[in-house]
Amino acid sequence: MRTNRVEQAARIDTEERRAWKALEAHHRKVREFHLSELFADDSKRATNMTVEAAGIYFDYSKNRITAETLQLLIQLAEECGLQERIDAMFRGDRINVTENRPVLHVALRAPRHASIVVNGENVVPRVHGVLERMAGFSNAIRTGRWLGHTGKRIRNIVNIGVGGSDLGPVIAYEALKHYSDRTLEFRFVSNVDGTDLIEATRSLDPSETLFIVSSKTFTTLETMTNAHTARSWLLEAFGGDEKSIARHFVAVSTNAVGVAKFGIAPTSMFEFWDWVGGRYSMNSAVGLLTMIAIGPDNFRAMLDGCYQIDEHFRNTPFDRNVPVLMGLLAVWYTNFFDAPAVAVLPCDQYLKRFPAYLQQLTMESNGKRVTLEGIHQGTRLIPCDFIAFARPLNPAGRHHDILMANVFAQAEALAFGETEDVEGNRPSNIILAESLTPETLGKLVALYEHSVFTQGVIWNVDSFDQQGVELGKVLANRILLELNSQTEAELKHDSSTNGLIRYYRNVKRRS
Ligand code: F6P
Repeated sequence: MRTNRVEQAARIDTEERRAWKALEAHHRKVREFHLSELFADDSKRATNMTVEAAGIYFDYSKNRITAETLQLLIQLAEECGLQERIDAMFRGDRINVTENRPVLHVALRAPRHASIVVNGENVVPRVHGVLERMAGFSNAIRTGRWLGHTGKRIRNIVNIGVGGSDLGPVIAYEALKHYSDRTLEFRFVSNVDGTDLIEATRSLDPSETLFIVSSKTFTTLETMTNAHTARSWLLEAFGGDEKSIARHFVAVSTNAVGVAKFGIAPTSMFEFWDWVGGRYSMNSAVGLLTMIAIGPDNFRAMLDGCYQIDEHFRNTPFDRNVPVLMGLLAVWYTNFFDAPAVAVLPCDQYLKRFPAYLQQLTMESNGKRVTLEGIHQGTRLIPCDFIAFARPLNPAGRHHDILMANVFAQAEALAFGETEDVEGNRPSNIILAESLTPETLGKLVALYEHSVFTQGVIWNVDSFDQQGVELGKVLANRILLELNSQTEAELKHDSSTNGLIRYYRNVKRRS
């Protein structure tokens, strides 16, 4: 559904632009060029098509582009008003037009002295106020000052959330595990299938367990269901004593009323704001589990990494602007080569969940697929992003040399091939940094956020709304009532949905 919208928007607006038409003609000219020829014809290609910015080494030379392609893509970005849109985002304009909101995840990592005004108020002091409260709470857990209901130290932290309220802390925790406090146990519950919560709590002692209920709206069915079941699990252990909730539950939300209704005190709520999209929220209070795991200083370093890329995105000419180049290349392959997906290949075990995070960021924003499937010499063209680090966090003999040799070799093989079976000409970017630190993770996240933004501007979509998923949530609530209805009320869905509901109700009645 979202893809259609993207395509439609692209057809109606972008395809009429002069640069688009020029790119179409140019594509017909260059589409058969082989990367081997492009490299053979230009000894400076790798130098000219590598950018170093904020500690990131970005080599995009193994893409099926020429200098002219780049110039036309940049012209397209200019015709689409990309710089104006970037400035509008950073200024706090209401660029999420369907929801009539500013889009200010960049404010979450703005330094203390910055000023970003929303509705006449500089929001930066509020952001730092919440960060300080998070730091106080994280330190209290980490040092054992915060005790559970029976006076025991908290040893287990369980995050309950879905979408951005789950994947943000999941990726940050997994990616930065090396920096985490190993005396604490961290778990995540996201699936409304009861198995998720039951397995996550199975071996835990309730008197040592803290739940973070993370939900921007505090109405999401899956999260609220899991939170209520967790509440019952806890109360059962404490003979139904509701006072225990205060020591074992905290909330992260924009909805203070909903949090209070659940029984969590305002002092245990960490706030964020409606100008932070769920999938852009890992630097907000949604990162509470991350901060408990890695400590406030490391969390701040991650924010600083994002900030460095934010500044780079905002101030760098497009031909040296890494997220802009990434975004334009994605447009080039999606629209001109009809690439069905982008493969993101983090060559570091700690980044194993990064593709899942990027999948939500990208799909929910621009309706585009990112998969790891069919990456090597398949029949369809799938551009790849390799992400790798020069220095390993866990040096072990020759492991890292072997890993890096494979990274470089895979990109080389994809580009140049060698045999008839491996014909090459498969494009890739290589994103290298010295090592995987909190700061580097921040940079990677911000690079992809801004690349997605760039694509959204070219395709003329509101990357920040989520009407499709919101509709799904509304329909799920409606169907839930029907599944539990005692009477045989008339069903008004399509015939397929009506049939499914009837089947389920029949089985339920019999069991
Ligand atoms: O999946 C749709 C979505 O709206 C995401 O954008 C969001 O991260 C997720 O649901 C969870 O929503 P909430 O944080 O309000 O529970």
